Amino acid sequence: MTDGKQFKTEEWWKTGVIYQIYPFTFADANGDGVGDLKGIIQRLDYLNDGNPESETSLGIDAIWLSPINQSPMVDNGYDVSDYYDISPTFGTLEDFDALVAESHKRGVKVILDLVINHTSNQHEWFIESSTSKDNPKHDWYLWQDPEPDGGLPNNWLSYFGGPGWTFSEARGQYYFHTFNKNQPDLNWRNPEVRQAIYAMIRFWLDKGVDGFRLDASSVFSKDEFYRYNPVKFGATDKNAYHNQHHLYDKDLPENHEIIREIRQITDEYEDRLLIGETFIDSRLYDSTIFYGVNNDELHLPFAFEFSFSPWYPGYLQREIEKKELITPAGAWPTYFLDNHDIPRHLSRWVECSLCTNPTEIAKAAGALLLTTRGTPVLYYGQEIGMVDYVDMPSDKSRDTAVMDDHGGALPSSRDGARTPMQWDDSVNAGFSFGKPVDPWLPVNPNYFEVNVQRDLADKTSILNFYRLLLKVRKNSEALRLGSWRTLIHYPDEHLAYVRETDHEKVLVIINFSYEKPFVVDSYIEPENWLVLASNILEAGKLIDLPDTLHPFEVAILRKE
Ligand code: NOJ
Repeated sequence: MTDGKQFKTEEWWKTGVIYQIYPFTFADANGDGVGDLKGIIQRLDYLNDGNPESETSLGIDAIWLSPINQSPMVDNGYDVSDYYDISPTFGTLEDFDALVAESHKRGVKVILDLVINHTSNQHEWFIESSTSKDNPKHDWYLWQDPEPDGGLPNNWLSYFGGPGWTFSEARGQYYFHTFNKNQPDLNWRNPEVRQAIYAMIRFWLDKGVDGFRLDASSVFSKDEFYRYNPVKFGATDKNAYHNQHHLYDKDLPENHEIIREIRQITDEYEDRLLIGETFIDSRLYDSTIFYGVNNDELHLPFAFEFSFSPWYPGYLQREIEKKELITPAGAWPTYFLDNHDIPRHLSRWVECSLCTNPTEIAKAAGALLLTTRGTPVLYYGQEIGMVDYVDMPSDKSRDTAVMDDHGGALPSSRDGARTPMQWDDSVNAGFSFGKPVDPWLPVNPNYFEVNVQRDLADKTSILNFYRLLLKVRKNSEALRLGSWRTLIHYPDEHLAYVRETDHEKVLVIINFSYEKPFVVDSYIEPENWLVLASNILEAGKLIDLPDTLHPFEVAILRKE
């Protein structure tokens, strides 16, 4: 153990399971076609009804809401125009208070998305800052003069495509935006900006939120001299985001200072959590830097290891092994398969020629996520095997912030992974309570087969397997907190790893392929394993380790 802060035993965010909700499309209470906070409240019992023996709840421990603040919704809420209010699209501050109270009643924590790298260009701060070079907020954003020939101040690009600079006639200057031009980046070197953001953070902490997911948390700081980013050797398209080394517009030392300051604030409150989106070039190493040298930055920095892996055991295991090696002492890993920015894992993985059984792949992927050492984050709908709506009519598009074919880092629209939650087989999958209206994004037409109601009624469904995994995890110290060690050093067709504490040893076997001999490792005794969860074996049965694995077999076994 380094001199880092020690965790209290069983911090909720280490042992719990977090569930990401995309508010636009989770549940629509007022029947206007757009999801809202009241809708989330009405669906809370599905997520966790407070009864550990519930027959219908998923059993998650925390919800993370993608942004719900006032916003012109150019980037669907990731462009905030008022941090102190809730967008009328989703409800009111009273609704939010009710959501926190109802969640807490069920033992569910509430995590907000905190979008503070940038604001909306409709935020009053930016409106004021844009008026002149000498207004009181003139230095709240990243303003720069044009080059003498009128050109852009430097070669920094937008992650969404195109240049990162947009000209303001009123100021005769450019402002910088890491994302869309309607999302100007704040100037974090300005102490007034920091204080304004920190006051807002306290406002939400005082309201009882249990933590934040810091959006774009590796790009808060930029080079004070606005130096040009070097272009990668041999790159042909100098204006493609990934063709630059982002030396001067990402992950500067000051970025860590900012996160440390935010952590100090959250640490003044009890049991609050900081997650961060630490996406950058060498993503895994970068993410571990964000724990802080003294574990004083993010509790859970997201890397994208499972989301950027193919459905291949060797690759996935290598990602876990790397993370095991580089996660600092006293720090805690986190994993996710999906989020609102990337195609859902079944859409990514089921394309491979051998992957013919999405239901069993979904269970295997869920088992991997929920049994690897670290905090799992689920994305709404993955627990029922939702896939992207790939053929969505283009006139229904909502993801207008990303520019196609302009060298951005995101390939295309993210709408496919943001479609309404599929609750049942009624109109629009039961997304809207009340009269049927067109939902904000169209429902995936597969909702007759893929929906919560159907899955709950089917003992072999993906949802019931997730429910079992969550329950088993909750009851197993080894799965929540134990060490992770692989039994197979060069996995080809399956993963086999052990989670272990002083009191409990759990073996996880996941077969990625067809019938396959399972070679029992010499230092694992083959006798007396209790089946905790499996898609083949009967839970609760005492068995000897099998010699052969069925296609996509998952077995979570406890040594007796
Ligand atoms: C990352 C968020 O996940 C994404 O949805 C958003 O567009 C950008 N940050 C900008 O806020």
